[in-house]
Amino acid sequence: MKLILDLDTGIDDALAIAYTAGQTEAELIGITTSFGNVTVDTAVRNSINILDLVGKKDVPVYRGAAHPWEKESYEPGEVVYQIHGRNGIGNVDLGEARREPEEMEAADYIIEMANTYGKNLTLVTTAPLTNLANAIRKNKEAIDKIGKIVTMGGALTVPGNITPYAEANIYADACAAKYVFESGIPIVLVGLDVTMKTLITKKDIQSWEEADSKASKAITDMAVYYYTNELDYTEIGGAMHDPLAVDAAIHPDVIKNILPINLTVETEGITKGRIIGDMKLLNEKKKSCLVCVDVDSDTFIKRFTAAVRKVIA
Ligand code: BDR
Ligand code: CA
Repeated sequence: MKLILDLDTGIDDALAIAYTAGQTEAELIGITTSFGNVTVDTAVRNSINILDLVGKKDVPVYRGAAHPWEKESYEPGEVVYQIHGRNGIGNVDLGEARREPEEMEAADYIIEMANTYGKNLTLVTTAPLTNLANAIRKNKEAIDKIGKIVTMGGALTVPGNITPYAEANIYADACAAKYVFESGIPIVLVGLDVTMKTLITKKDIQSWEEADSKASKAITDMAVYYYTNELDYTEIGGAMHDPLAVDAAIHPDVIKNILPINLTVETEGITKGRIIGDMKLLNEKKKSCLVCVDVDSDTFIKRFTAAVRKVIA
């Protein structure tokens, strides 16, 4: 299986890169980036730096959307800085990137890889859905060929994290997310319904700390920053949103309950960014989204922490 990660490279995105680097089921062929936890330029720099840190210097990185569909620019807000640090990676200093991103734009790369690999391609998005929406808008026929799309986003059966109704990735570009869901492209949605059940604590990452290398120090510091700042859940742990999306893509059995549904997204008012069943399609037999609602968190946390440990030793 060929894998593309579409990231807004903050801390849990960085951990998703490390996890992907340490597993053996899928080949990471490229990273596409967008605004979100950071600006798109910082997402490019962080992605390159993390790839270098975990021994994946050859994986190309593509620059994508710099702002949501409805805006002309983007800067992360204070809540995001609190969770991911001023540089997106918990203020861990990895310096300037040692290489440039590729010239091709992210959406074009996704389209090209969809045409090249078809069913053998899996796309995991853990960022606002702007790059995927742009790719569908440009060439839906190509995107239809992709074997599997797994998206970290949304909150269907639990409250949101950026507002009581909305999860951050969907909220960040609600119009693009609505366009993606209403396009009918099949999507597996790994939202807060499951990611709030997969929390890491100090105990889970003890083996990372013990690895005692430059990479282990950087990755451990990021994880500690994250679980001590994310939503003030200090006592409970940090939600592994983006690494779980990778796990659900390569080990679908980790998901223990799914709800097939045709989704839409609310784009205005206090419910902006809320995912909800599309009234127009309630009686439609074919459902384009599979929303994950339960997960085997122990299996995931063990598999994830062991894979990361391999690439930071
Ligand atoms: C999602 O939002 C971002 O802050 C995280 O990286 C994750 O992709 C969680 O709501
Ligand atoms: Ca993310």
